[in-house]
Amino acid sequence: MLNIQRLVCFTLFLLCTMLILTEQSPAQTQHSHPNQPAIISEDSLVLLNQKYDEAWHHWRNALFDLDIQPGMVIGEVGAGNGELAFLLAKQVGPEGHVYANEIDPSKLEKIREMILSGQVKNVTPVLGQKNDAQFPVHNLDMVVLVEVYHHLDNPELFFRNMIRYLSDTGFVVIIDPDLNQPGGDSEGCYSDPETTRSVFENAGYKVRKIDYRKVLDLKFYILSAYIQK
Ligand SMILES: C[S@@+](CC[C@H](N)C(=O)[O-])C[C@H]1O[C@@H](n2cnc3c(N)ncnc32)[C@H](O)[C@@H]1O
Repeated sequence: MLNIQRLVCFTLFLLCTMLILTEQSPAQTQHSHPNQPAIISEDSLVLLNQKYDEAWHHWRNALFDLDIQPGMVIGEVGAGNGELAFLLAKQVGPEGHVYANEIDPSKLEKIREMILSGQVKNVTPVLGQKNDAQFPVHNLDMVVLVEVYHHLDNPELFFRNMIRYLSDTGFVVIIDPDLNQPGGDSEGCYSDPETTRSVFENAGYKVRKIDYRKVLDLKFYILSAYIQK
């Protein structure tokens, strides 16, 4: 009887020890969650870059549909890493100019470094405020926002403030993921084109047109609006 009790106690002790060791083992915890995201492979990175290039090709086409001419003065809001700003700078040439606005000073610093390293003379970085782009000129022919509109806290105020930076014939172009598609989420990186139309009309603009494009699997809308001075 005593031996049986000892055996039960020993077995329980063994089980407890195994349980404690299993909890503490890092190898075990790393692989215990089936939904844990895998580390991105080199191949996936290459694929991602290819996709990015493909998307970029679409942006360029969408924007160049807008007839960007040498000599134009363009403001880009939320320029991010500056790829589009430098592309536009090529398009407007030495007689034109691009003002690359960002609210994030670290991103602006990268754009500044690119300007210096490439000796680019027709791009100027501009630090913006939440509801005011703070462009240093009042003759912008075009202002463009690619995947930035949905970030704006108060778009009506933002574009009301924008009027003073535009020339008399200046216009704004919004390119943003359309909320009205599978996966569209008003809390996410999407916006509704018809709501954007109302925002622009309330802010004192006339909406010229809204086009739609599919980039990879995502549907985007392209809205252009003129000011009514
Ligand atoms: C999704 S990224 C898009 C960047 C770039 N336009 C592109 O297509 O790669 C959004 C950018 O908008 C900037 N942003 C957000 N709110 C802004 C604001 N009120 N004024 C200027 N930039 C803003 C962010 O810092 C970020 O760089």
